[in-house]
Amino acid sequence: MSDYLINTSEDYNNIYQKSTNDLEEFWSTLAKDNFKWQKSWNSVLEWDFSKPEVNWFQGAKLNITENCIDRHLESNGDKTAIIFEPNDVNDKSEHISYSQLHKRVNKMANVLKGIGVKKGDRVCIYLPMIPDLAISILACARIGAVHSVVFAGFSAAALSTRINDCQCEIVITSDGSFRGNKILNLKKIVDDALNDCPQVSSVLIAERTKSKIELKSGRDKLLNNLIKNASDSCSIEIMDSEDPLFILYTSGSTGKPKGMVHSTAGYMVGAGYTFKNIFQYQNNDIYWCTADIGWITGHSYIVYGPLLNGATTIMFEGVPSYPDYGRFWKIVQKHKVNQFYTAPTAIRALAKEPIDFVNRYDLSSLKVLGTVGEPINEEAWKWYNKEIGKNKCPIVDTWWQTETGSIMISSIPNVIESKPTYATLPFIGIQPALMDENGNEIIGNNVEGRLCIKFPWPSMARTIWGDHKRYKETYFSAFKNKYFTGDGAYRDEKGFYRITGRVDDVIIVSGHNLGTAPIEDAINEHDLVAESAIVGVPHEIKGNSLFGYITLKQELDSEESLSDIKKDINQLISKQIGPIAKLDRIEFVPGLPKTRSGKIMRRILRKIAHRDVNNLGDVSTLLNPDVVKKIIEIIIK
Ligand code: PRX
Repeated sequence: MSDYLINTSEDYNNIYQKSTNDLEEFWSTLAKDNFKWQKSWNSVLEWDFSKPEVNWFQGAKLNITENCIDRHLESNGDKTAIIFEPNDVNDKSEHISYSQLHKRVNKMANVLKGIGVKKGDRVCIYLPMIPDLAISILACARIGAVHSVVFAGFSAAALSTRINDCQCEIVITSDGSFRGNKILNLKKIVDDALNDCPQVSSVLIAERTKSKIELKSGRDKLLNNLIKNASDSCSIEIMDSEDPLFILYTSGSTGKPKGMVHSTAGYMVGAGYTFKNIFQYQNNDIYWCTADIGWITGHSYIVYGPLLNGATTIMFEGVPSYPDYGRFWKIVQKHKVNQFYTAPTAIRALAKEPIDFVNRYDLSSLKVLGTVGEPINEEAWKWYNKEIGKNKCPIVDTWWQTETGSIMISSIPNVIESKPTYATLPFIGIQPALMDENGNEIIGNNVEGRLCIKFPWPSMARTIWGDHKRYKETYFSAFKNKYFTGDGAYRDEKGFYRITGRVDDVIIVSGHNLGTAPIEDAINEHDLVAESAIVGVPHEIKGNSLFGYITLKQELDSEESLSDIKKDINQLISKQIGPIAKLDRIEFVPGLPKTRSGKIMRRILRKIAHRDVNNLGDVSTLLNPDVVKKIIEIIIK
């Protein structure tokens, strides 16, 4: 029996070596000894990155909810699985034990079955951070339905694109959602989205805000009534290891969002093992990740990772600024949180507020701090370390992606030292490579290149829903026989990795991945817009903010009409994507710099937006070199 726990640097070195010497032997021992299987596998790993095809634990049978819930019931049935902390500070938090979770998931699973959901069907979940969200996810997994959670901040248009892409026939939502002092009418957004989704036959509506909603007869059903009458026992659907568990959309640099498909067994092994070790979770710890379950961080490190380990995980409905900027720290004190995992953008926003918001609260329960989603700057790292961790909590800067399913590069508390702005060393079984632009691996240390992964790992996404060709082109074409992450990285003298940021046209704003193309498409819908180009510029809190260069079909010189167009543009973006993608700065320019083949030279636009105009490189080969000078005059007034 081996749980391969990593408690010392020696453990890390030994286990890492073992995992890379014999990948299959390592993962199969770990999987066999630490998870519950209905049937073992015939082969541990079959892979070919040129196709690409990756199969882990082929032939095995399991259900992930048996691993997340049922197997803890006997010894830990009364232990709290989920603590729900509501938006309103005066509302009571809810503690859901493993046995209560079991019943609630079973009831929800029976409701889904009752409306005809079967193994393999896709179910869209568009819910705020309330227990129904975690329960719906687990209910889908219990009956073998594939959940597709859409972040409840996305607009109706973004929601309908995602519902249609994977042809969901069922949507789970709520009457509304509380966000700070706002109430959002989620049901209305769903209604608008479904005007474009004729295949959706049922909408299940959880009650949260008690807002007035319209019910479409035959389609809309109130969840409360159905749950009341549903049985609380539901046997697990036996799944193949490679059956899809969920789809989660992420932005690409071009075209529509990519529905990343995660399979059952490999994802389970990756999420379970990383959670336990990277957060050094001990039996009675209270763990809190502040992400939204609409993103991969919430899937892997609020729901699946913690529950696979029988942990207590907090779900927070609200925002860090409500009722004031002390809310996070109030929650840490209230629940005596031991592990706290958040995003650099939240840290930067909170660090700007008076320190009294922190010092009012007792944070002595904290043992480990985590960060994820974007590079963390040194100042924010130091503030987090000193003011929150009181210089005694190791910080895990965890690098990973929607596509990787679980953490890939990270320090480990008291095992691999934290180093500001560095994700540090690869996790067990992960073999990174830095590549140069000619496709050669860069060997040695103190080097920088494009970050790739050389070998398969269990929790990697298997495909893009409905578009395997795009999966291959995006991740497996840039470098032969390697997974390309889209990120750049630096490796220091000790072999520690520092992620330097995206090298493609994805911009990370407040931790959200935004592709430039979908935003430009939204802008170009404006009748007066001829063309647009979006670039990211560094922003004190958000990491990056969006800067849009717009050319108009006709010249307009009234300030008033230009300012109306700016407003319209941001409205279009909100409508097509969501408010997270709104532009911070919009500039009208006479043209966009293009190569002779017509490609917009974003590199130049980026530099101008950064006000770095002395080093633009050779612009003489452009189709329209004069336009660069004109743009500089406009931007650098
Ligand atoms: O650019 C990297 C950045 O976020 C990207 C992945 O975004 P997403 O799929 O939304 O998943 C975010 C949560 C896992 C990466 O390609 N990123 C993520 N974590 C870090 C990071 N950049 C620097 N440091 C990190 N710790």
